[in-house]
Amino acid sequence: MYKIAAIGGDGIGPEIVSVGKNVLDAAGERFNFDIEWTDFDIGADRYLASGELLTEEDLAELKKFRAIYFGAIGDPRVKPGILEKGILLALRFHLDLYVNLRPIRLLPGIVTPLAGKKPEDIDFIVVRENTEDFYVGIGSRFRGHQKTELTVARELYSLKFSLDIGSDAEETAYQIGVITREGARRVQTYAFDLAMRRRKKLISVDKANVLSDVYGLWRDVFMETARRYPQVATEFTFVDAVTMWFVKNPEWFDVVVTPNMFGDIITDLGAMIQGGLGLAPGANINPAGTSMFEPIHGSAPKYKGMNVANPIATIWAGSLLLDHLGEHEAAAAVVAAIEKSIGDGVVTKDLGGTAGTREVGTSIAGCVRKGG
Ligand code: IPM
Ligand code: MG
Repeated sequence: MYKIAAIGGDGIGPEIVSVGKNVLDAAGERFNFDIEWTDFDIGADRYLASGELLTEEDLAELKKFRAIYFGAIGDPRVKPGILEKGILLALRFHLDLYVNLRPIRLLPGIVTPLAGKKPEDIDFIVVRENTEDFYVGIGSRFRGHQKTELTVARELYSLKFSLDIGSDAEETAYQIGVITREGARRVQTYAFDLAMRRRKKLISVDKANVLSDVYGLWRDVFMETARRYPQVATEFTFVDAVTMWFVKNPEWFDVVVTPNMFGDIITDLGAMIQGGLGLAPGANINPAGTSMFEPIHGSAPKYKGMNVANPIATIWAGSLLLDHLGEHEAAAAVVAAIEKSIGDGVVTKDLGGTAGTREVGTSIAGCVRKGG
């Protein structure tokens, strides 16, 4: 028996998580395990009612679970950034979910915008660092002669740009990206271990030609880590180039490891080449603690409660959750059931179908039970 936490969140979040839970329960029936779900009321409604985002008590409770099944966060009644930073990013940081795993895989029967590419050409995994880089939240915005900020800013920009900050710069903003040796080492080690279980090919993404301090360290650590994995073929790619190769030659990729912000950007591109955001799952992993599984898309508030959202990304994230628990057969059965249901044409409008969220869920759950 597994105890799993569930956070539906905002917009379409609650309905897709509810459908996802049914599919995982169906997997439990077939593979002989039980899931005891505990729902957490975290999101815009609670924030608007009480001002609470992610509380100490939430965290203490959530830490008791091995896994969290997460829907989506974001609501038009709340200024952008508040819920995202106060809930989603707070969970990633406080639970130290340092691996963000994002499989990019074209399922049979799904149309990719890349002409001529087939399922065997698009099958790789992005390992996104999830706790550092430009996401650490160090930065500031200021006007004129604000002394303390000025000192920091002078140091940051350094005199080589001879910016007379504070005297004639009307307004200034800066934000710092942070990479630590340990932060890079642990996520890269995870990526190497993953590459060992796949095609033994790992590509590191950076921008060490320009942001040479942060990504210079990232690169140094990558070269050191690579020495411990002589069987893995490695390569560096600059982030601008990687966007080009994702489109032109996705078949070159097997495992890709990237700092946080580039990972954010290139996985939306990845989602599109695998057929759209409605299909892209993600796992936020702390190998030694609580991990969290979510679709990579957002809360799509305008579709809330309309039974039109595609639940596949969330169901697939549920498969990653099962995999994480060690239920590998059940995890594979869930993906097979997604494929079967797509093959049967039971898909939502974004994939050209007419089925609703719940119908897709029922169809996939049925395929899981039947095993085909
Ligand atoms: C993602 C999202 C988040 C991110 C947002 C919602 C904070 O875009 O999971 O990719 O930037 O990481
Ligand atoms: Mg993103």
